[in-house]
Amino acid sequence: SKDWNGIDHVLLRNPQGASARISLHGGQVISWKNDQGEELLFTSSKAIFKPPKAMRGGVPICFPQFGNAGSLEQHGFARNKLWAVDDDPPPLPPNDSVGKSLVDLLLKPSEEDLKFWPHRVSLAASGNLILISRVRNINGKPFSFSFAYHTYLSVSDISEVRIEGLETLDYLDNLHQRERFTEQGDALTFETEVDRIYLNSPNAIAVLDHERKRTYVIRKEGLPDIVVWNPWEKKSKSMVDFGDEEYKQMVCVDGAVIEKPITLKPGEEWTGRLEISAVPSSFCSEN
Ligand code: BG6
Repeated sequence: SKDWNGIDHVLLRNPQGASARISLHGGQVISWKNDQGEELLFTSSKAIFKPPKAMRGGVPICFPQFGNAGSLEQHGFARNKLWAVDDDPPPLPPNDSVGKSLVDLLLKPSEEDLKFWPHRVSLAASGNLILISRVRNINGKPFSFSFAYHTYLSVSDISEVRIEGLETLDYLDNLHQRERFTEQGDALTFETEVDRIYLNSPNAIAVLDHERKRTYVIRKEGLPDIVVWNPWEKKSKSMVDFGDEEYKQMVCVDGAVIEKPITLKPGEEWTGRLEISAVPSSFCSEN
């Protein structure tokens, strides 16, 4: 279907009314709504919906490189490529398909990039968004990569947001040439630009939007690191596809594997899984 900003995409719906839209450009989730039809992901009002760049918002996939520390373009090429719907997907764990609406996408290997990469997006009966990516090395020699689900969460006011689960962790600060620091605070709050890679994080972390009384719970497997990014005032003004004030309504919290890249020998496979739920804060118990 092409009816959403002219983008070729797949729409998933569950019976309760939750939905997810996935663009074939980048295999990027571009919308995720709860049963009430509320959008849970941020998309910039200045987003550009045309290739070659990734649309500003949703969940672009950073692969096989995160950031610009490497020989490839910023955040790798996967988010800038056209994916195909996979009609004959490899089997995934049964629990990950029962009772869910889902789509399997495939980034076809090219000459310079002989990796086989299926990616599944599904919407659980609960309305949770589930992303599963697999990378298999079908080349004759080992290869290494980093990976991130660059998740733009929609929040009502960044100064009312706190992230729990990153306390006491070490992080690499992208604003200081990836120098290593240790988190000192109780929970992460925002009053300036933040661009960090938290290392070896717990498998579940919570993003609390106090004003909207909503909590995002992010559960992950195979993704030890968490990127937290908010561009704040100055950087917002420097991005052409981002509104000057929009940093107040978003925060990127990415399940990722960056510090220790994955190396696959020929024939080996890696799986990363991310599940996000959005629940009213009063119902959210500590995990
Ligand atoms: C973050 C990076 O995760 O992504 C930032 O750490 C970068 O440095 C941001 O600005 C957005 O990247 P891009 O390429 O989508 O503009």
